[in-house]
Amino acid sequence: MSGEQQRPPSGEPGTTPPAGTGPGADPRTDPAAAAPPGARSFAVGAPLSQLRRPVPQVGDERQQAEAGTASSFYEQVGGHETFVKLVHEFYVRVAEDERFRALYPEDDLGPAEERLRMFLEQYWGGPTTYSERRGHPRLRMRHMPFPVDTWARETWLRHMRAALDTLELSPLHDGIIWDYFDRAAHAMVNRPG
Ligand code: HEM
Repeated sequence: MSGEQQRPPSGEPGTTPPAGTGPGADPRTDPAAAAPPGARSFAVGAPLSQLRRPVPQVGDERQQAEAGTASSFYEQVGGHETFVKLVHEFYVRVAEDERFRALYPEDDLGPAEERLRMFLEQYWGGPTTYSERRGHPRLRMRHMPFPVDTWARETWLRHMRAALDTLELSPLHDGIIWDYFDRAAHAMVNRPG
């Protein structure tokens, strides 16, 4: 016995650092070293799209969101087909509501349906066809010729709520778009009453 403390043989239980925390893996500087067991770890400088929490989705859309490839709300809710359906369902209800229908000047609701659809697609990150054809939206100004009072606003919102229900979006996406419609409709009121 030399009296010197013997070094434990390498690999002895309790002395080998757990995977990912080897020499130089300081939790203060290395996020991987601080990650709890089972957690996903990310390299420093990873794109934000990899770090953000996945948006609740159904089917393929969810995988896209987790992979960070569903870049816009437009894509996340299903793109063109979703907006076609939403606006069509809305105008079906407008057509059936005689008093509300009277606000719309044209005999054919088709062009109005297309304008609203193009606008919403553009607003949520889809094609910019609306502005290419119609210029700056200036929605409040464009609504001035039509008497939008509290009744008109509530009726518009009621038909849009029913249209939105047909899409069965995730609660998160439904909440985001509904909140927008509610605020936009309030902003469009241009007559007392
Ligand atoms: C608050 C109740 C609302 C009423 C009563 C109303 C009514 C109308 C009417 C009568 C038109 C003319 C139809 C046409 O020829 O295009 C119109 C157009 C339009 N509305 Fe509304 N609207 C309302 C709210 C909204 C909201 C909240 C939005 C957007 C989120 C919106 C977006 C549009 C768009 C994009 C157009 C076509 C504008 C253009 O390019 O000429 N409206 N609306």
